[in-house]
Amino acid sequence: MTIELPTKPVMLETKRLILRPFYSKDLPDLYDWASSVNVTRYVNWDRHRTMDDTREFFKIIQELSEKNSLIFMALQHKASAKMVGSVGIFQRSDLSRYTLELGYCLSDQFWGQGIMVEACLGLVDYSFLNMPYLQRVEANCVVENVGSRRVMEKIGMQREGVLRNFMEKDGQIYNSYMYSVLRNEWMSLHHP
Ligand SMILES: CC(C)(COP(=O)(O)OP(=O)(O)OC[C@H]1O[C@@H](n2cnc3c(N)ncnc32)[C@H](O)[C@@H]1OP(=O)(O)O)[C@@H](O)C(=O)NCCC(=O)NCCS
Repeated sequence: MTIELPTKPVMLETKRLILRPFYSKDLPDLYDWASSVNVTRYVNWDRHRTMDDTREFFKIIQELSEKNSLIFMALQHKASAKMVGSVGIFQRSDLSRYTLELGYCLSDQFWGQGIMVEACLGLVDYSFLNMPYLQRVEANCVVENVGSRRVMEKIGMQREGVLRNFMEKDGQIYNSYMYSVLRNEWMSLHHP
């Protein structure tokens, strides 16, 4: 059994962001941060070298969204009107029927302002409130990715353990931390 993701495009609003589907007009902003060495250092996809990589990435996102196997949202920053990052949630495997995995990425021009915590709180809260079968949201990051670890901790996820030699990036193998939050934990933390 697979988890049913919402069939209609999701739109969410937080204090500083609009979380919405990706549009083709986002390609230049998407290329801007997806081509950055700094931004992509610890992500599990390759840095975009050309605009063609960005177009291909966009096509894959569209296809997976249409197949209803992921929610991948663009972060539109209200003040600058730029598309500054992404936050997504998807089912990683049929083995974990009630689990979704969270992933995110932000332009380094906007790091350190609490933006990703705001975006993740929005999407994870939406997910628990609108998918009654969802029991667990998990995320992992390489141990060295201190910013990402803090995002997970700040939204209320708990570290479960180390995934040894879990990720390879540019020829280097990294250990990752697995984090998760369960429905009852989320509800008592955010909807007491
Ligand atoms: C990881 C990332 C999403 C953090 O986004 P952000 O909006 O800068 O994070 P926030 O401002 O919400 O900060 C959350 C916490 O992390 C801390 N933090 C953020 N970046 C940090 C860094 N490089 N080193 C140490 N702490 C950091 C912040 O200080 C804050 O903690 P605090 O309130 O206790 O001070 C962003 O750096 C990013 O997109 N990196 C590249 C892509 C990536 O690694 N994605 C995750 C893959 S698993």
